[in-house]
Amino acid sequence: MNVLQIDSSASGSASVSRQLTAAIVQALCRNRPGAQVRHRDLVAQPPAHLDGALLQSLRPQPGAELPSDASFREQAAYTDELLEEFLGADVVVVGAPMYNFSIPSQLKAWIDRVAQAGKTFRYTAEGPQGLAGGKKVVIVSSRGGKYAGTPMEPMMDHQEAYLRAIFGFFGVNDVHVVRAEGVSLGTQVRAEALESALHRAGLLAEELAAAA
Ligand SMILES: Cc1cc2nc3c(=O)[nH]c(=O)nc-3n(C[C@H](O)[C@H](O)[C@H](O)COP(=O)(O)O)c2cc1C
Repeated sequence: MNVLQIDSSASGSASVSRQLTAAIVQALCRNRPGAQVRHRDLVAQPPAHLDGALLQSLRPQPGAELPSDASFREQAAYTDELLEEFLGADVVVVGAPMYNFSIPSQLKAWIDRVAQAGKTFRYTAEGPQGLAGGKKVVIVSSRGGKYAGTPMEPMMDHQEAYLRAIFGFFGVNDVHVVRAEGVSLGTQVRAEALESALHRAGLLAEELAAAA
């Protein structure tokens, strides 16, 4: 089983989502000895935002030439690495804190790299078709307020809803959420949210390891 752990919280060791992604991956490895883990820390090595040159390499316009400078080549190689490890993973554990009702820009930059026509999706006469199915994705959601099942959810959740949409677009239908929310609402709420998310993480890891 190939596991890809992605972290995007900028809070380092204080991060809730990093604690949870690590716990899930550890539990997966406990339940599936021999599992291969790749860890992608998008804060330690952030993918650059798209610019004209990167866009040209991802979505080439006929007749336009690709730049040949070292920094472009480095970013293009990084794109290939990110795509390859995503496509090669059986289970992807995505640490995704809510930042300003959405996701950290590093995670969005990762999505912009792996969203490649012909690799993770394609358009057909019947509409878009995902090409990266057959894997499982765990969205590890941490957020200061509470949204799930509240009137805030449809208005303000552009984090979990967006991630479900984009992984669905890539053809991944087996998406799970481990959520710690309300972590800014006081120490007790935070501790309870974390405890319950860790419990869910353990159960989910057992389930995924058995199914993979
Ligand atoms: C830059 C930033 C923006 C945030 N925006 C929101 C927000 O819009 N809604 C919310 O409920 N919490 C927000 N929070 C709180 C985080 O979602 C919460 O602290 C969560 O635990 C962050 O995940 P982490 O601990 O893995 O870094 C924000 C935190 C930061 C640092």
